[in-house]
Amino acid sequence: MSTEYIIPQHVAIIMDGNGRWAKRRGLPRTMGHAQGAKVVEQILEDADHMGVRYLTVYAFSTENWSRPDNEVKALMNLLRTYMKTSLVKCAKNNVCIRVIGERSMLDPDLQESITHLENETRNNTGIHFQIAINYGGRDEIARAARKAAMKAFDAAQAAGELSRSYFAQVLDECMSIEGLNAQLDTAGLPDPDLLIRTCGEERISNFLLWQIAYSELYFTDAAWPDFTKQELEKAIEAYNHRDRKYGGLKEEKA
Ligand code: FPP
Repeated sequence: MSTEYIIPQHVAIIMDGNGRWAKRRGLPRTMGHAQGAKVVEQILEDADHMGVRYLTVYAFSTENWSRPDNEVKALMNLLRTYMKTSLVKCAKNNVCIRVIGERSMLDPDLQESITHLENETRNNTGIHFQIAINYGGRDEIARAARKAAMKAFDAAQAAGELSRSYFAQVLDECMSIEGLNAQLDTAGLPDPDLLIRTCGEERISNFLLWQIAYSELYFTDAAWPDFTKQELEKAIEAYNHRDRKYGGLKEEKA
């Protein structure tokens, strides 16, 4: 990859194709997820070395609960293992971890290890690694709207003003784009510059719906367990050939 390429600050990945990868090899789907988890760790290191500052991966969606019990259990166990065994590596590589998604539905021990890993890595200044677990973009936006509305109510109540017009005024602030941004699970993070989806599907599947408003989308046929540093480099190369205009006009070169 050319050293002149701009490295996207934030890369998000929909890791698709674990099941197909396993099926092609005559293996159970859970083996595909296990291999996928290894690839996550490798790609985190590769992205970090390439200068990516934020990496966000879709590990378990709000819809994935409908999969067979053994598959849900296997995915939860992979996440459990990751949370329990990553501390030393995160410390060594200065990785800051954040889990996004509604975690109250996760087993208590998994919730505890997530909180522990987040707290222990909170002040790390290297790559920021977000793992989406029981995550859905619509669910995240609905939760953020609820939090923002409650904040507006609390502000109106504190001011002793529960009139409709005053409430409308505080709602404007709390439910503005910035106000809602601040209530999302990703509060404080920059929006993804590049969203990658593997294994040939070209859909968003409820991932980061709010945050990808201006992200560049990149689709590859490689299944997630086959995804490599070279695949990431190809995605970044493609990103460098896009014109990002954010709804404006392309700048004319002088
Ligand atoms: C989609 O492939 C993949 C998932 C639903 C799970 C992704 C999870 C991991 C890679 C493990 C995460 C681990 C860590 C440490 C973050 P699929 O099963 O839908 O594949 P298919 O479409 O081929 O069936």
